[in-house]
Amino acid sequence: MSAPTSPPKDLPKTFHVKSFGCQMNVYDGERMAELLAAQGMTAAEAGANADLVVLNTCHIRERATEKVYSDIGRIVKNWDGEAGTAPMIAVAGCVAQAEGEEIMARAPSVSVVVGPQAYHRLPEMVATAAAGGRATETDMPAEAKFAALPKRRKSAPSAFLTVQEGCDKFCTYCVVPYTRGAEISRPFSDLVEEATLLVAGGAVEITLLGQNVNAWMGEDHKGRAVGLDGLIRTLAANPDLQRIRYTTSHPNDMTDALIAAHGEIDKLMPFLHLPVQAGSDRVLKAMNRSHSVESYLRVLDRVRAVRPDIALSGDFIVGFPGETDAEFAETLRLVDAVGYAQAFSFKYSARPGTPAATMADHISAEVMDERLQRLQAALQRDSQAFNAASVGKRCHILVDRRGKLVGQWLGKSPWLQSVHFMGDAAIGDLVEVDLIEAGPNSLTGRLV
Ligand code: SAH
Ligand code: SF4
Ligand code: F3S
Repeated sequence: MSAPTSPPKDLPKTFHVKSFGCQMNVYDGERMAELLAAQGMTAAEAGANADLVVLNTCHIRERATEKVYSDIGRIVKNWDGEAGTAPMIAVAGCVAQAEGEEIMARAPSVSVVVGPQAYHRLPEMVATAAAGGRATETDMPAEAKFAALPKRRKSAPSAFLTVQEGCDKFCTYCVVPYTRGAEISRPFSDLVEEATLLVAGGAVEITLLGQNVNAWMGEDHKGRAVGLDGLIRTLAANPDLQRIRYTTSHPNDMTDALIAAHGEIDKLMPFLHLPVQAGSDRVLKAMNRSHSVESYLRVLDRVRAVRPDIALSGDFIVGFPGETDAEFAETLRLVDAVGYAQAFSFKYSARPGTPAATMADHISAEVMDERLQRLQAALQRDSQAFNAASVGKRCHILVDRRGKLVGQWLGKSPWLQSVHFMGDAAIGDLVEVDLIEAGPNSLTGRLV
């Protein structure tokens, strides 16, 4: 530990946690905020400078890292505290895990670096920083971080619950196995307890999270081995919990029981995010995805057989090293065959330390741009078609915020579409609407 350039004078009074990247980071960000609040700090007002800023970072693609450094610069520049003081900056999340030492060297205004498995130690690290030191913690201890966190108390109507962390799949382009470590499943009883607290605190919907959420395994109250379907079944028995979702799944971990659950559990929403990445078997092999186009499509067929109205979602990477025009065309064919309700698509980004980064035949930026545009046009076409096909349906909307117009509300359909409607409602209500019109990114509903 060495002295930062201008140490904060006291323990911070206000904090702000800013999360980037995946929903697991959003969950971790909430837990860090709860942890800091339990130390007596208060969340800074929106737009106000905070004494402590936690940047909860993502390392998945290149620009994400650069964003961290520009954010650090902006926080320092905008600081309006007493002369001679500085904001305390903590870098958390996956960039902290991957590049902690580099951050400490390159950004002297950062005084805390904490990885995703160590953030329960944030309070002591903040104390070190307040005393003029710097603290780094990027170990991945097997010890339970979760046990050291305060119990859940309040929740938004739609809550996240991390059930599984880490990844053992080692797709050749991906940093997650390095930043989040090996796959671990949180114990069944801990999850049931946390879900119960979230529901008591206001959650109507819970989304179970994991980098490979469907690889979750545990033992139920009777000591029987259960998979994610068993956990979902148990949570669904809580009468005050209305909706359950889960994300992100790997095609190879879609078990028969989990597929069957989609046809059996009403509270399990008709939505499945199942990334495929590419539509060419040669590319999938080079990516080490361990599924083929055909095995992926077979999983989708089986889910559709038990839940015909399921909305499908996916992730795609264009321009993986060596991807030919013909192989990219296979991705477009796969998209045509599936008809996704929504999807995320990315240009391949070489990540240091991953096997793909040193593969031959990297694709030029121009080719990647062109492929991404074509793919996104196809995905956009399909999501609009999915929304248009929803017009005429009657469904429940979980209201999550006010709209821009007076009397307007926004919420989510069972198929995770944004729906706006006019009328009497409150955040957290499940209201019944008729879907009457489809726009490019949302639908209009009319209260029943
Ligand atoms: N565990 C999940 C999500 C991983 S990260 C899964 O396996 O599906 C989310 C998405 O980011 C991935 O699905 C992939 O599409 C994208 N991604 C990961 N690494 C990438 C890279 N190096 N370049 C571009 N996109 C990447
Ligand atoms: Fe990354 Fe692959 Fe693991 Fe997903 S399954 S987190 S893409 S290594
Ligand atoms: Fe990003 Fe880490 Fe999530 S790299 S996508 S924040 S697991």
